[in-house]
Amino acid sequence: MSKLCIVGIGPGSKDYLTQIAIKTVENSDFVIGSQRALDLFENASQKIVFNVKNLEEFLYKSVDLVNEGFNVSLLSTGDPGFSGLLKPILRIAKEKNLDEKAIEVFPGISSLQLASAKTHIPWDEANIMTFHGRDDQSAILDIIENNSDTRESINSKSSIILPSKSVKDFAKFLIDSGVDENRKITVCERLSYLNEKIVDTTLKDILNSNFSYMCILVIY
Ligand SMILES: C[S@@+](CC[C@H](N)C(=O)[O-])C[C@H]1O[C@@H](n2cnc3c(N)ncnc32)[C@H](O)[C@@H]1O
Repeated sequence: MSKLCIVGIGPGSKDYLTQIAIKTVENSDFVIGSQRALDLFENASQKIVFNVKNLEEFLYKSVDLVNEGFNVSLLSTGDPGFSGLLKPILRIAKEKNLDEKAIEVFPGISSLQLASAKTHIPWDEANIMTFHGRDDQSAILDIIENNSDTRESINSKSSIILPSKSVKDFAKFLIDSGVDENRKITVCERLSYLNEKIVDTTLKDILNSNFSYMCILVIY
């Protein structure tokens, strides 16, 4: 049976690639991913590049190629199961009648895991949330409620957040929603890359900052 392997590539640096990710990619007929992901694999066979705009089209293509009898590796940043490509592929596979047994998932180190490691927060003790692709960010407010009169045990935990939109917009949303502008935050930007930045700051200082989209936020 030909396989669609959804391969987690980790946060971005080659150092965080698993051996099984490398082997799986080398044994595939096609490897589909962003340019940044494909660059990690020197010995990959036929490479197909997607970008944010045509991602959906290439997810369909990966399923079509497996239905045609090819082994395909689809590269997903971090871990495919956390705001990654597993969810959309399950939907498309169903639509295209690809047997779910043909799908194999290879976990990668999530950017959230690396953020928890860098900030020394055990992630089983943190609130973990993703706002990737979500317009409604209000769910964060219950989690990080900072009024001591209403603080419940869950709210004393740190929160490790994959933000939607820019870090600046996220900070603005929190301040506009009444969160203390002096609330302590760590921004983990471009984790694992040579230009990685881990900045201890506050909500209000984020408003005057210029972080890229590639950030994890830790809210204390
Ligand atoms: C589509 S989500 C993918 C998340 C991925 N599945 C994971 O487990 O890390 C992309 C978002 O993940 C975060 N991200 C991915 N790689 C990162 C890195 N190296 N450093 C910081 N944040 C990263 C950023 O918030 C980025 O906008």
